[in-house]
Amino acid sequence: MADFQPAFIDELIARNPIEDVVGQYVTLRRSGSNLFGLCPFHGEKTASFSVAPDKGMYYCFGCHKGGGVINFQMEIEGLSYPDAVRALAKRAGMNIPEDEQYQSRYRQQERLWAAHKEAARYYHSCLYAPGGQAALNYAVSRGMSKATLTRFGIGYAPDTWTGLVDTLRKKGYTDQELKDSGLVTVSKKGELFDRFRDRLMFPIIDVRGNVIGFGGRIMKKDDNAAKYLNSPETLIFNKRKNLFALNIAKKSKLGYLILVEGYMDAIALHQYGFDCAVASLGTALTEDGANLLSKYTDQVVLIYDGDNAGQNATKRAIPILEKAGLQVKVLQMRDAKDPDEYLKKFGADKFRLLLEESANRVEYQLNAIRRKYDLQSDDERVKYIHEAAQLLCTLGSAVQREVYGRRVAESASITYEAMKLEIDKAYKRRISREQHRREQESMSPVRTLQPRARSIRYDNMRSAMAEEALLAQLLKQPALFDQIGELKPEAFSSPLLGKVFAQLLGRYRQGLEVSLGVLSDFTAEEMSHLAGVLQRQDTPVSESALQDCISIIRAEYQKRGVSSDDDLLAMRNKLKERKGLKV
Ligand code: GTP
Ligand code: MN
Repeated sequence: MADFQPAFIDELIARNPIEDVVGQYVTLRRSGSNLFGLCPFHGEKTASFSVAPDKGMYYCFGCHKGGGVINFQMEIEGLSYPDAVRALAKRAGMNIPEDEQYQSRYRQQERLWAAHKEAARYYHSCLYAPGGQAALNYAVSRGMSKATLTRFGIGYAPDTWTGLVDTLRKKGYTDQELKDSGLVTVSKKGELFDRFRDRLMFPIIDVRGNVIGFGGRIMKKDDNAAKYLNSPETLIFNKRKNLFALNIAKKSKLGYLILVEGYMDAIALHQYGFDCAVASLGTALTEDGANLLSKYTDQVVLIYDGDNAGQNATKRAIPILEKAGLQVKVLQMRDAKDPDEYLKKFGADKFRLLLEESANRVEYQLNAIRRKYDLQSDDERVKYIHEAAQLLCTLGSAVQREVYGRRVAESASITYEAMKLEIDKAYKRRISREQHRREQESMSPVRTLQPRARSIRYDNMRSAMAEEALLAQLLKQPALFDQIGELKPEAFSSPLLGKVFAQLLGRYRQGLEVSLGVLSDFTAEEMSHLAGVLQRQDTPVSESALQDCISIIRAEYQKRGVSSDDDLLAMRNKLKERKGLKV
């Protein structure tokens, strides 16, 4: 990560008022000292997204995302910390005193993006050159329209050894740059050759519009050659972190994204009007891929191939998508092996029906449960009914419970009435379990105050609450740092809050800005948690409250001092010794 001077960050934040930056993306209305609008990070109809200009922070009461202006820029544009700083600096017309390493890395990336753009132009033009006739015919035979070829920049890598190498050299790219681009291979003698030859070329474009790699498909059936050849990982291409066609799909007005396995599937969907389709880049869906999707939608329709591999991939993808906060629907392909084939066989309208009625998660899960049991055996059938009821009782709608309940009853050869009894029983059990949980929760404030993210659990709630209150006061009135005496970050029970305290204290001592937005080196989750804390801790600043917090933190710290494992062990040993026992 690039190290920016703290003073530079302060100026950057001062020259990018959070309400202005957020205002570029969200329509904000003032209410009191804060501004409110529709959250850009999750779909909503009532404004629960708040901006507090005086605190320099944003916070969404719905999805609990929050942070300072740099975090906002990172989150909304999907940028790294240095890239977000860079973008804000540009916005405010500031020069960036960045470290050399980062500068040169960025310049290198820019060269590779430019080289890829040239390569895409070259491949695309080759498709329409005389040598590209067969490739063009192939593309057309696969149903790609002229508009699709243009929209996706489909191209042809001719059957030559140095067509691209020569073109890029002529444009001034060095051999080193060519090697770094992954677009060439290097022979034993050190000569450069085109990596892609005689293939139909699919440019892979990132969400910012840069060509970052290619997928190349052979056109004749050949059992010895891989059907697809993809760009290797480079400085600009990471196949786990990008998705094919997301650059187009992110602008879709359909309100959801469709995730498919193949380039050809995504392209066919777009051509048939489903401009929200994306494909993973020849890998299984990764956590990075899911997080990327979640920046642009909260609902994903999974359509993997109907074969075993596709089913397994679906099973693996669901929890990954859900973990990224996405609502998942699964569309099961029937009578076609993949969306590309389906659309060509049955057309867009039939597909739309499939999509609508679809094949949501319930159906998919029911099928999965069903496959686990041998329905010929009575014993297994009872287990199947039982497990299916467990699933169906979680459905909020009575209609859904009935529709799926009937389906299960039929497959298990029992009456719907019997099935309904089973579902009702499971439903009652679930409700009473939930009631019980809610009661427990309301009796124990500790649980509701626990941070959402598991990685930030509080071990000592009493101390953590004092730490939160202390930080809130210090952020509101940094001069209070003069009153904190010898309090050390180590005394904090929460490592996260201790780290915040340390950073702010360091800044205060150097006469620098103290606010949420200046914090660096925290994850999005941590920043959101901190923004939530500040939102919640709105008590007026008072010196006695501050001292109370400090005493609690100190007292709890001391308690921990004697109760650490080592000390306990020492104490136990001493006791045993006194009693004359051997240790
Ligand atoms: P068509 O076979 O032309 O319909 O293409 P497709 O995009 O539907 O491909 P398919 O469903 O066979 O495979 C899904 C995806 O897996 C492809 O889009 C590629 O990203 C990847 N893939 C398939 N075959 C290969 C291969 O041989 N090598 C590599 N690296 N990736 C492959
Ligand atoms: Mn296919």
